[in-house]
Amino acid sequence: MLEQLTQLFRDSYGREPIAITRAPGRVEFIGNHTDYNGGTVLGAAVDRGIWVAVAPREDGRRRWRSGETGAVIETGAALAKLEGSSSWTNYPQGVISAMGEFGLTVPGGFDYAVHSDLPVGAGLSSSAAIELASALAFLHLTGQEVDKETLVKIGRKAENDFVGVPCGILDQGSSGFGEKDKLVFIDCRGPDFSTVPMPVDTHFWIFNTHTKHALVDGLYSARHAECMAAAADLGVNQLADASLELFQSEVHQLSPTVAKRARHIIEEIDRVGRTVKALGEGDLDEVGTLLTASHRSSQHAFENSTPDLDSLVDTLIRVPNVYGARLTGGGFGGAVMALTHAGFGDADAAEVSATYNSQWGATPQVIHMRAGEGARVMWRG
Ligand code: GLA
Repeated sequence: MLEQLTQLFRDSYGREPIAITRAPGRVEFIGNHTDYNGGTVLGAAVDRGIWVAVAPREDGRRRWRSGETGAVIETGAALAKLEGSSSWTNYPQGVISAMGEFGLTVPGGFDYAVHSDLPVGAGLSSSAAIELASALAFLHLTGQEVDKETLVKIGRKAENDFVGVPCGILDQGSSGFGEKDKLVFIDCRGPDFSTVPMPVDTHFWIFNTHTKHALVDGLYSARHAECMAAAADLGVNQLADASLELFQSEVHQLSPTVAKRARHIIEEIDRVGRTVKALGEGDLDEVGTLLTASHRSSQHAFENSTPDLDSLVDTLIRVPNVYGARLTGGGFGGAVMALTHAGFGDADAAEVSATYNSQWGATPQVIHMRAGEGARVMWRG
């Protein structure tokens, strides 16, 4: 990747970069939509990511190039949201805007190139990866350093305020705090970040359906709004402050839809806690049961699953060596993650895909991965 990106940079700008950074995608292990409700969540950085190369320019021009989409794009000193094939620049442009709001020096002119071995649109948060890799690159350009927590918050701010998605801290937190063979535990109230070891011989298999609800951003925002309404109806600041007892005694005040959303979040936060405990005890069957229960709650209570994702989960949990399976990420299409024992292999994955194909006439993209390193500078010139 390092050589490929350096070559892309040279081909684009006829010069050498001064730094190359990398940030990984993430998998949401368990804790669905808990993050923006102040709850807890377990994620992991995955072993694929987005790489960014930069060099400063004296003339104030900002030039952008993606290995995926082709032509060099040019912007000036003013930040402006772009559309169509240039819209990916909104993530790094959002990072520049967020750096300013954090009181950091923002970069002037530069040449920028990005390349990725992270599948885009697979529910692995390529957006958080490009935000964090870009933030590290811009910090390097301006000779600044920040702690991991600030880095993560810059990425989230870029996404919330510039890109306009009201996401929580899960994606950026996992990409920033990820470590090899570890899960990232986030208590989003702080936020506080820590890691939990992945049990040996466990693996992630991602089955990306390539389906995406046309209104996915609007549906995510709608769930966000329903959760905020539920907290207000229950008389708490955020749903993480509502116990199951409070919910049960006040549920009659909530509309049936809002009640279902609240129950999902409150029970899901409980499942995250039980998952951490089961991981500590090495009880992987229990972990798997909790993962699948999380999916069922998405399916029936939060209603952010789809029949395609449900059928993948139904198939996967019947295969030997699969502990559990669930949709990963925002939902409304996207990907299912299975936690497996090392005994689950390519032939098993191919059978799962064949079953899916017989049901839906399409083949999912299969990605086998492990938990990998978090965001960092990979090379300095
Ligand atoms: C998306 C968001 C995250 C989180 C998940 C659902 O990935 O970006 O902040 O809310 O959905 O858990």
